Amino acid sequence: MIEPTLDIHLTDSDLDAALRSDARTGLTSTPKSLPPKWFYDARGSELFEAITALPEYYPTRTERALLERVVGEIARTAQAEVLVELGSGSAAKTRLLLSALLSEGPLKTYVPQDVSVSALRGAAQQVGAEFPSLAVHGVVSDFTDTLHNLPRGGRRMIAFLGGTIGNMVAAERAEFLGGIQQVLEPGEQLLLGAGLVTDPAILVPAYDDAAGVTAEFNRNVLHVLNSRLPADFDPDSFDHIAHWDADNEWIEMRLRATRAMTVTVADLDLTVDFAEGEQMRTEISAKFRVDGLTAELAAAGFDTEQVWTDSDDRFALVLAGRR
Ligand code: SAH
Ligand code: AVI
Repeated sequence: MIEPTLDIHLTDSDLDAALRSDARTGLTSTPKSLPPKWFYDARGSELFEAITALPEYYPTRTERALLERVVGEIARTAQAEVLVELGSGSAAKTRLLLSALLSEGPLKTYVPQDVSVSALRGAAQQVGAEFPSLAVHGVVSDFTDTLHNLPRGGRRMIAFLGGTIGNMVAAERAEFLGGIQQVLEPGEQLLLGAGLVTDPAILVPAYDDAAGVTAEFNRNVLHVLNSRLPADFDPDSFDHIAHWDADNEWIEMRLRATRAMTVTVADLDLTVDFAEGEQMRTEISAKFRVDGLTAELAAAGFDTEQVWTDSDDRFALVLAGRR
């Protein structure tokens, strides 16, 4: 096995500075909000893994089944030497892709990238052990601003799986896809996994499961603020909300204060008042229509080569070439 390497482009102090800035902006806005990337400390990454195994959370197993069906086809057309995966998390599904890219083509290097060091370390070790001929080069960074730091070394495919594209609003997606387009060479490819608009009776429970794991994941952002800033949120005084916004076609996760309270954020020299019942947005999870997705890709300079969906039309995998 080639020992995995890890490049850290985001140190603890970079993370603290970014969290301070996001917390000040979000907690002083009306309505209050926090960006979803702060869910993912070590505990948040574990909670996300637990979510992927819940009976109600269909996206992960739907995307896995789709990948099982089409990885051979993807690998034959891609002929990638380097697979870069943004927001790789545990890279559990990626193994299907790596295995196909290795057996069908010239894959040499896997570059998992994530803001969560713990998730990345685990993924790099496990992938390295499972695929001993593969060079695994992990990158700890923020995928919204450090794409230029990704290693090169041959024809690339960038994978962005799990529907994480839906955690951005349209303007953020346009900037993000444009940034990927700029680091790729003409003909190199993007493999995008995205959740599709489906029945709210399926969607809402996926984000509000009976066991309460998603509620804990949602509250974890308050634990992160408490330990990193520090702040003195009482996470148990916030209810988890998953709301389907039919106009925007996204699930919105919020935390609702169950009582009036004042929270102190020491590092920011800030006190924040919550009224009883006040709601703070912590994540959107946009769901797409295939036409809308391919239009967004086209606007960012990608030609859609192929789209695969599951038989219930709940999830799509799109293979797109950089123009
Ligand atoms: N791709 C995996 C994990 C999805 S969870 C899957 O399909 O199951 C979303 C992942 O994106 C988490 O691992 C989280 O740590 C990472 N992430 C979220 N925001 C990020 C950001 N701004 N930069 C880098 N990684 C981010
Ligand atoms: C990572 N991302 C695609 C997940 C989603 O479905 O939006 C995060 C998540 N939020 C609640 N459950 C899972």
